[in-house]
Amino acid sequence: MGKEKVENVVIAEHLTKQYDGLTAVNDISFQIKRGERFGFLGPNGAGKTTTIKMLYGMSPPTSGKLSVLGLDVRKQVREIKKRIGVVPQETNLDTELSVLDNLLVYANYFGIPKNAARKRAEELLDFIHLEERANTMVDALSGGMKRRLLLARALINNPELLILDEPTTGLDPQARHLIWDRLMSLREQGVTIIITTHYMDEASTLCNILVIMDEGKIITEGSPAELIARYTSQEALEIRVIPDQTQKALDILIPKSKSYEAQDETLVFFAPSADELLKTAEEAKLKIEYVLVRRTTLEDVFLKLTGRRLRD
Ligand SMILES: Nc1ncnc2c1ncn2[C@@H]1O[C@H](COP(=O)(O)OP(=O)(O)O)[C@@H](O)[C@H]1O
Ligand SMILES: [Mg+2]
Repeated sequence: MGKEKVENVVIAEHLTKQYDGLTAVNDISFQIKRGERFGFLGPNGAGKTTTIKMLYGMSPPTSGKLSVLGLDVRKQVREIKKRIGVVPQETNLDTELSVLDNLLVYANYFGIPKNAARKRAEELLDFIHLEERANTMVDALSGGMKRRLLLARALINNPELLILDEPTTGLDPQARHLIWDRLMSLREQGVTIIITTHYMDEASTLCNILVIMDEGKIITEGSPAELIARYTSQEALEIRVIPDQTQKALDILIPKSKSYEAQDETLVFFAPSADELLKTAEEAKLKIEYVLVRRTTLEDVFLKLTGRRLRD
């Protein structure tokens, strides 16, 4: 038997954060192993930002235990900060400075000597495809470029742990894919990545393990594939029929499905084989306006567990 030791980069036990009266994070426990890409997925207000602010020493826990890289967040914040990189939810770049200077100022915080800092900054600008913008003022950058610069800044000290709070919220698809691509390449370098998101596709693409949070609690944990298998059947039939046939569709298809949901006008039936459901619908001569046979996704899991109620 090998004696390989699985190293936990983060251990949280009964972690709680209260802001006078409001419990933003409510007694959560989790562990994050070295090399994982760990996601906190949840609707607005779930407590994702509060959780990771505690991880990077921005906000002290009200109660519970929390260690990062084997260090206590209450007592060893400075040591932790040296070894991690953070991309916060708000873009907090220095708008009075150029792209390159934003990186050099940060390098200086970490005590990186000038020549090494310049070399590292240039490598990072290549890495995030901003090499042509080194001397551009931050204000002139697009939203996607600013996010990439935040990523480069978070990497200036070669962190072993990278923490990102909603790294692609508000970006267009091209900008999102570029960030995803860069994060995947960091994974290959062995960096542990912690990310919060409310985008299911982002969680599916980037994370090998996820917790879903809602109202300050962790409601489930697993890989994207495990969660899909645990909470949904394999396939879904989405169907819209002419209005006066809705009841008929329900009567015919519910008995053949494991579960169903009405999403606006569209009925969604979950079953091991959506093709079989479709055959049943066709044999019953339902007047179908729209139909889609698909595999179930993380979005189905998310909506099932967190519901459809709007959050702020
Ligand atoms: N500094 C703060 N003071 C008071 N309440 C806060 C503060 N930060 C967050 N909250 C509240 O804590 C809850 C969780 O917020 P947050 O962690 O930002 O959620 P998420 O990042 O999942 O959207 C929300 O109800 C939010 O309003
Ligand atoms: Mg947040």
